[in-house]
Amino acid sequence: MCGIVGYVGKRPALKILISGLRRLEYRGYDSAGVAFFEGSATGSKIHIQKSEGKLENVERLLDASPGRYEDVCCGIGHTRWATHGKPTTQNAHPHQTGHVVLVHNGIIENYQTIKAELIARGHRPQSETDSELLGFLVLEEMNRGSSLFEAVRKSFQRLQGQCSVVIMSEKEPGTVIGVRNGSPLVAAADPKGGAILASDPQPLLELAREVVYLEHGDIVVSNDRGMRFYDLETGAPVERHPTQLEWSADRLDKQGFPHYMLKEIYEQPTALIDTLNGLLDRATTDPFTLARQPGVELLERAKEITIVACGTSWYAALLGKYWLERWARIPVNLELASEYRYRDPVMNEGTLLVGISQSGETADTLAVLRKSKKSEIPTLAITNVRGSSISREASATFYTCAGPEIGVAATKSFTTQLLSMLLFSGALMLKPRAAAVPGDITRRFDDMIRLPHVLSDYLGDRSGKMASSIRETARALQLSKGFFFIGRGYSFPIALEGALKLKEIAYVHAEGYAAGELKHGPIAMIDENMTVVVLAPGDTWRDKTVSNLQEVKARGARILGVGSASDSELKSMCDHWIELPNVQLDEAFMPFFLTAVVQLLSYELAVLKGTDVDKPRNLAKSVTVE
Ligand code: M6R
Repeated sequence: MCGIVGYVGKRPALKILISGLRRLEYRGYDSAGVAFFEGSATGSKIHIQKSEGKLENVERLLDASPGRYEDVCCGIGHTRWATHGKPTTQNAHPHQTGHVVLVHNGIIENYQTIKAELIARGHRPQSETDSELLGFLVLEEMNRGSSLFEAVRKSFQRLQGQCSVVIMSEKEPGTVIGVRNGSPLVAAADPKGGAILASDPQPLLELAREVVYLEHGDIVVSNDRGMRFYDLETGAPVERHPTQLEWSADRLDKQGFPHYMLKEIYEQPTALIDTLNGLLDRATTDPFTLARQPGVELLERAKEITIVACGTSWYAALLGKYWLERWARIPVNLELASEYRYRDPVMNEGTLLVGISQSGETADTLAVLRKSKKSEIPTLAITNVRGSSISREASATFYTCAGPEIGVAATKSFTTQLLSMLLFSGALMLKPRAAAVPGDITRRFDDMIRLPHVLSDYLGDRSGKMASSIRETARALQLSKGFFFIGRGYSFPIALEGALKLKEIAYVHAEGYAAGELKHGPIAMIDENMTVVVLAPGDTWRDKTVSNLQEVKARGARILGVGSASDSELKSMCDHWIELPNVQLDEAFMPFFLTAVVQLLSYELAVLKGTDVDKPRNLAKSVTVE
């Protein structure tokens, strides 16, 4: 959602703000802006440059006055993803109200009441946003004699909803104040003096490795001497300890790939290895022994599991359900977080609630975890982001180690989520309830250790056999009216993911179906302009899926088959063919290869369509509003 940066110190602030905002572009945005004290931090006038559209528009505005802003050393910046009001320059942040200027991420839920009161007191908001209203509240408090710090604190007492804010006032030049009231905010001291604040750690990386994740209800006051933390409600100082960031700035670059998404697809084998190393106890060779951490005990105690997630994370959870049920024989309920949070679910005793979210910030998933915690239901989070809201809310957290994922479309975060589900299925397979055969356990574990290497060989490089065959197939299919992705069993969640990826980045109509469902309605859509992508590895479900293939083929659909390299019968039925690696691995591992295929297919189709692959329209990387 919206991205926030603030800087005060001894370095050129505008450079830091703009490059920080660039690092936040992946979140998705529709307008951007910066506000800064002209001249040195002690100068008293705040200047704003903002624009609808891309960050380049703001840079152009700044470039129109070459040299003028070189001395700037204090300012704030924002990328906006519209919630209240259209994506216009008027609604773009920063917002100025008298001498107060702010940027905001999140939602002020009682904004209508506040707006009515402000108007009744004679104020005239200039934008349609909820954010601007906070500026009026702060201004009123300062006019009554409060400092900026006190004014911000008092104003927040009026607000309902989750948000974070970074704010300055011309009355207190050289001070930048940040508040975390739900939505994330991170701060780091600049080793040269000063501080940087942002809505996530990426913009901080160039200046510092030690960052402080503000707690919910923290306020940070920063100036060129550093930063101090306080309790938003009481104003009392609080101590916050920095976390060492593991991500290096160079990992954020594209490393020669044309898009982050492509780079991230190819990073999957490494991400899987990192995740295995993070979650397994590597001191032992006993199969599926998880590294001891609080989450393991919760998992082992669970009599039943309910998983909540959204989007791609939900598909990972669906596959997790299949694996957990088959390997571990534990009942698993799967729920869309946005539905579950407003239902009246009945929970059996001994249920563990698991929330899966790559960003760790998805509002609906977070809300379910909060609600469950209140009802004293044990909760477990699986996320890729340390310090994220979901990780803080859950009773325990398992981290996937996909590293930073810049492309808005989930790729390596998805496969690492899959791997964590597989690991848990393996760990719970050791329980007496599962009654697993020891030979099966060892074989599956050995396969899991081989998986990243086999996937790496399969992906090869950009000029390799697999990549070339997908590129060629995409060229042949680019004019299709629409795509169905079909699969059964372990391939069904990947059919859903394939269709979502294609919609997200290529804006092509695509649906994912359990192959057996076609004849219950969707088959009416089939004609010669439709492509059906049939995911049919040589597994338990292969023959059933092939029967469904024949039904759509008979109705004229173009068939792209994805199957085992040795399956010449299947190949002969297909118009296009992408083969899976010819290796002996348990059928549970096939989804990882199918995922690579559907990701690359969507990527190539998107490139042919000329879309903005890494920042698809209308989407955001972390969905912090419901
Ligand atoms: O951060 P989360 O995993 O909670 O995000 C959930 C969905 O918003 C996310 O998976 C979304 O569907 C992605 N755009 C998928 O590529």
